[in-house]
Amino acid sequence: MGKKEDLLRERRKDEHVTLAYKSYEETGTAFDEIRLLGTSLPKIGVSDVSLATQFAGLTMKLPFYINAMTGGSAHTAGINRDLAEIAREVGIAMAVGSQSAAIQNPLLEDSYRIARKVNPDGYLFANVSPEVPVDAAKRAIEMLRADALQIHINPAQELIMPEGDREFGHWIETIKRYTEEIRIPIIVKEVGFGMRRETVARLASLGVKTVDLGGRGGTNFAKIENDRRRDHGF
Ligand SMILES: Cc1cc2nc3c(=O)[nH]c(=O)nc-3n(C[C@H](O)[C@H](O)[C@H](O)COP(=O)(O)O)c2cc1C
Repeated sequence: MGKKEDLLRERRKDEHVTLAYKSYEETGTAFDEIRLLGTSLPKIGVSDVSLATQFAGLTMKLPFYINAMTGGSAHTAGINRDLAEIAREVGIAMAVGSQSAAIQNPLLEDSYRIARKVNPDGYLFANVSPEVPVDAAKRAIEMLRADALQIHINPAQELIMPEGDREFGHWIETIKRYTEEIRIPIIVKEVGFGMRRETVARLASLGVKTVDLGGRGGTNFAKIENDRRRDHGF
């Protein structure tokens, strides 16, 4: 890849953060529809309650994690450092953003590695697209000494990006190869568009055991990518 592509990629990473911040919308979640009924006569005490859970074969102290966001530029290295510090202090897992940038330009590796440096013993997830061949994904895992690998599937986002991918048919075969050759847990995720039941079933048939629906909690990547376009989609 040339210098121009590297610069464009770094600029994209910074724009994603700025635009996501600007366009975040409170959408409400399914939790809003749940009302927990209290009891005035509990049979247990606080010490009987544990929030620990199993996710992707890992035992987590808390049932949530910091999802994939960033890396790939000087500015976003600082964000990964801060997020990793939070993850370490709170004891939650964290995913870095797509490592494609560092796979193509090793000078950017430090903007991801910083998360492991700050949080040497915590759970860290690597993140790649199914455009990335298995061997390169293994490098992404080594880069972080990752505990799990996230594979993001994001056709809606790619289609809106002028520089985005246009061919998706090979993703199925690549994901299958990942499940056969990668030895750490794999999590397939969306980026804010959710997944259909059929997609989840198809992923399961490929050997994927963990899916993060990546439903829209406030980030609208269609809007973010559209706002990045100088022509705003026209
Ligand atoms: C600035 C920003 C960058 C993101 N970059 C990535 C990425 O590189 N890889 C990925 O899998 N998901 C990425 N995501 C998607 C999130 O991991 C998450 O799936 C998405 O934001 C939906 O959740 P939310 O609506 O609660 O934010 C990014 C999100 C944001 C806000």
